[in-house]
Amino acid sequence: MMRSKGLRFIVGVLGALLLAGALSATAQTAAVPDILPLAGKQIYALKKCGDCHDKGAKEFTPIKAAPDSAKLSAHLEALKSVNVLRQDSSPRRQKKTMAEEVVAMTAYLKSREKTDAAAANMVTAGFVMVRESCRNCHLINGVGKGDMAPELKGVGAKHDKKWLVEHFVDPQAFVKDSMMPKFGALPKAELEAMADYLAALK
Ligand code: HEC
Ligand code: HEC
Repeated sequence: MMRSKGLRFIVGVLGALLLAGALSATAQTAAVPDILPLAGKQIYALKKCGDCHDKGAKEFTPIKAAPDSAKLSAHLEALKSVNVLRQDSSPRRQKKTMAEEVVAMTAYLKSREKTDAAAANMVTAGFVMVRESCRNCHLINGVGKGDMAPELKGVGAKHDKKWLVEHFVDPQAFVKDSMMPKFGALPKAELEAMADYLAALK
């Protein structure tokens, strides 16, 4: 009697654990955040916005509402903020990059809770994919240009992480005459983070 009760208890606990695991797995795939707010989170960190805006900051000023881009641009100008997404040589390109950074940080501040819940490698992936302008060729999450290259929706069901990393390094080894640039010069951690992100797009 005692034994079967104990067994039933164990089976019950295992069942609950399996169910919880399955639920969190589906929640995870459903919740792959867009690359733009992820990039925004990294840019916010690199620009040290938290020095004034995160709890515990010495001169704490809370960010109450998501900013509009024009206001945020003016704020960055007043702070003499320098670009962190890319180092451009021409002032025209620097201005363009700064505008991209503002758009990404605005997207981050608009979905802060959800984006803060994302794993660190997802944040890296978003930052790298925005920096490398993957959306100039690919539709990712329905956004971007989709006429030159395959849409990346569902790419994780097609390719595994190993394939994805090898393809980044040398796309032409997979598709002769592929227009995709080689990304083999990027740090391995960045390639792996992008592969993790794409592998999660099932
Ligand atoms: C040196 C401190 C400092 C830094 C660094 C700083 N801010 Fe601010 N920020 C302020 C202060 C002070 C205000 C409130 C007065 C104002 O609007 O200028 C403010 C206001 C804001 C607001 C409007 C807040 C609201 O809800 O009304 C936003 C959005 C904002 N900052 C975003 C950023 C972002 C993004 C960064 C990083 C790129 C950043 N700030 C870096 C000091 C700072
Ligand atoms: C200049 C355009 C261009 C850019 C920029 C580009 N790609 Fe591609 N990509 C392509 C083309 C064209 C293909 C199809 C041929 C191939 O597989 O190489 C492709 C294929 C892919 C595939 C395989 C898709 C499949 O369904 O098999 C992945 C994954 C991918 N790209 C990811 C990326 C990522 C991530 C970035 C940014 C770091 C990026 N690409 C940047 C043009 C581009």
